[in-house]
Amino acid sequence: MSAQHLENHPEWSGRLAFILASAGSAVGLGNIWKFPYIMGDNGGGAFVMIYLACLLIVATPILISEVMLGRRARSNPIIGMGKLADQAGVSRGWQVIGWMGVLTGFLILSFYSVVMGWALSYVEKAANGAFVGASPDTIKGLFDGLVGNPGSLLFWHTVAMVMTVAVVARGVRGGLELATRIMMPLLIVILVLLFGYNIGTPGFAPAMEFMFAPDFSRVTAETFLVALGHAFFTLSLGMGAIMVYGSYMPRGTSIVRAGIWIIVLDTGIALLAGMVIFPIVFSNGMSPEQGAGLIFQTLPLALGQMEWGYWLAIVLFVLVSIAAWTSAISLVEPAVSYLWERFGIRRLHSAIAVGLSTWSLGVLAALSFNLLGDLTLFGKNVFGLLEFTTANILLPAGGMLIALFAAWRMPRADSAEELGLTGWRYRLWWWLAAIVAPLGVALVFLNGLGVFG
Ligand code: PHE
Ligand code: NA
Repeated sequence: MSAQHLENHPEWSGRLAFILASAGSAVGLGNIWKFPYIMGDNGGGAFVMIYLACLLIVATPILISEVMLGRRARSNPIIGMGKLADQAGVSRGWQVIGWMGVLTGFLILSFYSVVMGWALSYVEKAANGAFVGASPDTIKGLFDGLVGNPGSLLFWHTVAMVMTVAVVARGVRGGLELATRIMMPLLIVILVLLFGYNIGTPGFAPAMEFMFAPDFSRVTAETFLVALGHAFFTLSLGMGAIMVYGSYMPRGTSIVRAGIWIIVLDTGIALLAGMVIFPIVFSNGMSPEQGAGLIFQTLPLALGQMEWGYWLAIVLFVLVSIAAWTSAISLVEPAVSYLWERFGIRRLHSAIAVGLSTWSLGVLAALSFNLLGDLTLFGKNVFGLLEFTTANILLPAGGMLIALFAAWRMPRADSAEELGLTGWRYRLWWWLAAIVAPLGVALVFLNGLGVFG
């Protein structure tokens, strides 16, 4: 590792830029595609409550810890954890956080890019007017037709991957910042608009009940695992993306305040997405348990019946695609910044190398909806397996290690200085990161293994 590379470590143009970029990473398919569909599969309100509890008690202190480690190390997660371990006088084994993160990002991107491809293909369908006045059966047919067709799935998966590599290759300032500035406000406006349209529909009241009146009879050990996993997934937490973005964060910016902003934005958009999707589900007598196709079978239906729906559908799927895009680039960033800082490999080359290997695994994920549908393990196909293990196991495990290192290994003076916290505020963070959050992850894991019956 030469000093020259580290001096080249880039920085955001300011505080807002950090929040925007991290929110760009956080807000993505997790909010608009995944949250509604896993909420639907897990019974609604009770799931939402467990998810919010995980967010508050477990994910928030870990998010603050991850940003803090990144900014302290001013480096990519692998080299950065090595530096922090040296400073703390502990084993470099903690670098496993960085290695695991790079692997997790690679695994997530492989299926994320497939779903981003779905969103892109829906831009095309919207532009062709495919949704205008379409019946539920027609809309369902469009989705089944897409996932049943290996050729078009692979085409859109490839487009998504090329888009991702192109931005990563351009670097932090040029590529990552710009996209979020425009996307985030627009996305919120459109969702609010759709929400307003929904208020008058017959499905609105049942939808609110479904989302906010918890029915704990349907809660299982897996519900906890999925809710916890989603708290990590939706915040891009536990795999180094937030660490790497934190490393580009200028000093003197409050980590806690920025972290809270990111969580509020991400959660707000997820809940809003739910409040847009479920009224459509109930107004049309559909089942909330549609699985991964949920938003692709509901949004077009409502949009197809609305005045201006043709244009709104185009704009909405463009925005979903952009939201996915700004998340996808953050999945590759830890690997790319490592390859640059460790070996001096140019962004263009490393982005292409990482993109190609991720693309290959993504091909298997895409084909698991059709040709490889019979290839299953524990009742899950390749796509389902990738989705389940990354979000529900690898991210919480990574997050737990991050919290343990930040609280138990890093000198307290360092963490206090970096966080800008003193007194009870510092102690609160410390207790949450040292004990509550790791314990929470451990309990959910043990529960998932059936230890508590
Ligand atoms: N947070 C992103 C989303 O909600 C997904 C993601 C996970 C991105 C992990 C980066 C790292 O869509
Ligand atoms: Na998210």
